Amino acid sequence: MTSPTPDHSSTKSMDDIVALCRRRGFIWQSSEIYGGINGFWDYGPLGAQLKKNLKDAWWQDIIKTPPAGPDGNDLDIVPVDCTIIMHPKVWEASGHVGGFNDPMVDDKETKQRFRADHLHALFAENKGAFDNPQTVQAWRDGRIKVLPHLTVVANGIGEAVAMIKGNSKSLKPFRYVEDFGDLEDGYAIKLVDKDNNTVMGVVYPVDQEILKSDIANYPSPFTGKRGTLTEPRMFNLMFVTYVGALQDEDSKAYLRPETAQGIFTQFWNVVDTSRVKVPFGIAQVGKAFRNEVTPRNFTFRSREFEQMEIEFFIRPETAAEWYQYWRDTRYAWWQSIGLAGANLQLREHDKEELSHYAKEGAGVCDVEYRFPFTAPGFGELEGIAHRSDFDLKAHATACGKGEKMMYRDPVTNEKFFPHVIEPSAGADRGTLAVLCEAFTPTPGRAGTQYMMRFTPRMAPIKAAIFPLVNKDGMPEIADKLYRQLRYKYVIETDAKQSIGKRYARMDEAGTPYCFTIDGETAANQTVTVRDRDTAEQSRINIDQVESFLAEHIGS
Ligand code: GAP
Repeated sequence: MTSPTPDHSSTKSMDDIVALCRRRGFIWQSSEIYGGINGFWDYGPLGAQLKKNLKDAWWQDIIKTPPAGPDGNDLDIVPVDCTIIMHPKVWEASGHVGGFNDPMVDDKETKQRFRADHLHALFAENKGAFDNPQTVQAWRDGRIKVLPHLTVVANGIGEAVAMIKGNSKSLKPFRYVEDFGDLEDGYAIKLVDKDNNTVMGVVYPVDQEILKSDIANYPSPFTGKRGTLTEPRMFNLMFVTYVGALQDEDSKAYLRPETAQGIFTQFWNVVDTSRVKVPFGIAQVGKAFRNEVTPRNFTFRSREFEQMEIEFFIRPETAAEWYQYWRDTRYAWWQSIGLAGANLQLREHDKEELSHYAKEGAGVCDVEYRFPFTAPGFGELEGIAHRSDFDLKAHATACGKGEKMMYRDPVTNEKFFPHVIEPSAGADRGTLAVLCEAFTPTPGRAGTQYMMRFTPRMAPIKAAIFPLVNKDGMPEIADKLYRQLRYKYVIETDAKQSIGKRYARMDEAGTPYCFTIDGETAANQTVTVRDRDTAEQSRINIDQVESFLAEHIGS
């Protein structure tokens, strides 16, 4: 097992990691020959295999051999594979059409783009403090946070408030809306769950005209200068497309911004066709698309990315127990794939940070990794959220069947909408974290500056087979061994260049072991085995190579 690296914030350069990824074929810019396209990334041969290993590990550990639950019994988790384009009503019911419709503001000087309502909230909460350079610095350092919220833009505050208080479809799942007294200008309204009197989010009713004139006068939070911000312009994070020959409002559809909604909309079919009963999970791996305002930090914030999501359906009163369970289980999983050191952390959300579906009580947390570009801070790999019964109820209401769609417990006959604990992970962010963690400078090692210390399970190539020289019967023996092993493992064979250069190439690819056929092999049936991490070599019998790999890599 590879030992975890210490906090790498001071030792690893993101530029070096990106350069190695490019040079060795882990990750390239999409459409590079045309100058690339911002926010889209391709995986080369090594990267595609690495990302597949991560997704396979997740599928194996969640769906094929799920962990034991809190009571010691194996969990029941079934997969689905839903479409990227769904009925547009899905996204109205889920709140994405309302919630993802954001007015944006650009800072002409720094080229930063902000959500206008974020700026609005920021200034409402920090009142003029952005004329103070210390506040500007605090914002730039990420020490100032904005409350999570939805925005309702209308012609006049009165109309916006009216929409919130009764007419807005996307807000219907909230039971109660009340004014948020703390803000001076009264723009914010808080959403409160009447049952347990908890705040579920904040809504800003925004008058387009007032917002326009107000924001143009705000100082830029990045420079403190006034007059550099543009007027707000509407911007939707969902990619729009058209289904069929006509391109009009009726044929408008969206690329899914999360895989979760496929799971929620097929919940009833899964219950009807499988032998699952609450508690159980539905899981899905697939692409999601968000027209991110500022894609950045390599693949960390992309416009096309892949999610690995579990929606785990439970009885409402067990939410706290299951939340705790998934929080600990998912954290341990990320550790198990090689992120076991100080660069991984579990962070509970502040109460104000909760997203629109999350209900206080059971909570929301993130598994976070300290990337070189976030250090000394951390960036989210996976969110674990108690989504309550928000989505099932919203879809049941939106499709018009309402309570008829309640789940019936087969034992007690009780009817209810199950609550959901959602562990939602990013496959691309996970792959990037594994790359950053594995990246290791090798000062003093001949032929290479870096190696990738992947755990054997993640390593794209598990072993390489080399003939020491390309003659004397060595290539034939190497080829035979390669053909024997490649049915079980991803193996590479290579006879070009000096053996030192070939080892160096494998160190950069993160291959844990290299077996070399040399002059002694024909005579005594032994090969050398070289360990990537120590560069040490020993001899083993050629017949033992397969069992060596079974022991050190797994089957
Ligand atoms: N269904 C819940 C959901 O989608 P999220 O926190 O928005 O929650 C879940 O996304 C995960 O998807 C994140 O933890 C992250 O790993 C990944 N993700 C989200 N946006 C991303 C982006 N723009 N680029 C890469 N990964 C992203």
